[in-house]
Amino acid sequence: MTKGDVTLTLNKVKGKSLIQSMERSQMNRNKILVVDDEDELRRILSSYLKSKGYEVICASDGDEALDKVIEESPDLVILDIKMQRMDGMSMLTRLRSFNNNIIVIILTAHRSETSALDAIRLGAYDYISKPFQLERIEVTVRNALKVHKLEDEVTYLKDELQEKFRFKNIIGVSPKMQAFYRLLERVVSTDVTVLIRGETGTGKELIAQAIHYNSHRKDKPFLSVDCASLPETLVESELFGYEKGAFTGANTQKLGKFELANGGTFYLDEIGNLPVEVQVKLLRVLEERVIYRIGGNGPVKIDVRLITATNDNLEKAVKKGRFREDLYYRLNVFSLNLPNLRERRSDIPLLVNHFLLFFKKSHGKDIKGVSSKAMKSLLHYEWPGNVRELRNVMERAVLLADDIIKPEHLIPAMQIEEIHSQPNDEMVLKIDVGLPVGTHLKKITQKVNEAVERNLILKTLKETKWNRSKSAHLLGVDYKTLYNKLKIYKISKNEESPTRLEINP
Ligand SMILES: Nc1ncnc2c1ncn2[C@@H]1O[C@H](COP(=O)(O)OP(=O)(O)OP(=O)(O)O)[C@@H](O)[C@H]1O
Ligand SMILES: [Mg+2]
Repeated sequence: MTKGDVTLTLNKVKGKSLIQSMERSQMNRNKILVVDDEDELRRILSSYLKSKGYEVICASDGDEALDKVIEESPDLVILDIKMQRMDGMSMLTRLRSFNNNIIVIILTAHRSETSALDAIRLGAYDYISKPFQLERIEVTVRNALKVHKLEDEVTYLKDELQEKFRFKNIIGVSPKMQAFYRLLERVVSTDVTVLIRGETGTGKELIAQAIHYNSHRKDKPFLSVDCASLPETLVESELFGYEKGAFTGANTQKLGKFELANGGTFYLDEIGNLPVEVQVKLLRVLEERVIYRIGGNGPVKIDVRLITATNDNLEKAVKKGRFREDLYYRLNVFSLNLPNLRERRSDIPLLVNHFLLFFKKSHGKDIKGVSSKAMKSLLHYEWPGNVRELRNVMERAVLLADDIIKPEHLIPAMQIEEIHSQPNDEMVLKIDVGLPVGTHLKKITQKVNEAVERNLILKTLKETKWNRSKSAHLLGVDYKTLYNKLKIYKISKNEESPTRLEINP
């Protein structure tokens, strides 16, 4: 198997780049970056650590070291605190601005305890004073890696436990999802009316269910009505029910979903589509905690928690008079915004793995994993249909593939870009943005922006010979922003800088 075609196995890796961890575990060797501006010291340390079985890479200054951290993802850095160009302390500060995970061991001059302690405050694991014995370095490195591994395992177990007892079906550990869980935690055990906002397929109903099944109402019903899929005339009877003889055809009494959900939770999807006459009645339910059946002659008391959802701009609907302002305030007591999948791309490998396991089992297929090329396409795609679309793509891929999911098992819109060399040798970046019919025009700006941004970043990096600090400066962004963009756009050094963009919708 070549390095470019590493197959993702089905190990569960949380919170880290799944691909990187997979690649590392296949090599099964810890990688150490030695940063020192003294050639001799780098050479000695490097050959000693190599003889102890580590993979070693070196850098002679801070800039080069930061580049190596990004490109090679070492597990541990041995960093000299005093260097000519960028001193170790500034390098550590910059490293910590985008990576909290890597272990750093500082080399200090004899008797400079203060700077060593400062370094520890900045997140270094330990320090070693020069001159040192090589054995001492090896022991410190070995211990640091051991402690780190334990910490990883504890975090993993904590995540597992949390999943088991709380929101076990909701996949996602990205910062956006973690912020979302923190808000979710605040409302689950209350009776507060919640409004869930999010694009189609982001998991609004899944969240509504999670709220219900983690609340004191969990043994009572969870019922839902999608206001967009019901004809307007039926919405009221579906919600509130009717008495026998209330209208022609009402041959028996029918209870509405509100009454049937008594004691439990009622989820009203696409609330923006609720007919205006029914909006008044819903407001009364929220204010008086009673419902009126159609044709009934009195109020019926109910105890139901209401959760609503929308992917509409309700504020706009209020302004246009399509949605009652008083009801809007009643529903919007606590609103939860679900992030789009493209805003949390780091969760894609976890979701892919989750659906792969699920569909492997349900279709009885022995699929071993997803090729790294296919994973790259999955990571790049825009996902207008969010998690639902990813789920569908994975089901289709599982059905089509024999053992490994490859790009040809994905949908054509995912073949996002290829770099061609023209006959006149001009490099052209051809981008097939894969926008399906039905995509709003607003999307085009975003897609084209992304394409142009990626191209400019690539050009700037080439111009500066991949000096990221200089490039960030030229692009007018900070180092961390550039670093994040390199990750999002999957820009790597072996890519040639394209000079002409060709964009296909
Ligand atoms: N974070 C997630 N983890 C696992 N599965 C998810 C997640 N989010 C969504 N899904 C799955 O994606 C599908 C769509 O989710 P759901 O129906 O909750 O979306 P929605 O926001 O209500 O969509 P719509 O606006 O179209 O009604 C479901 O199969 C759901 O289980
Ligand atoms: Mg829904």
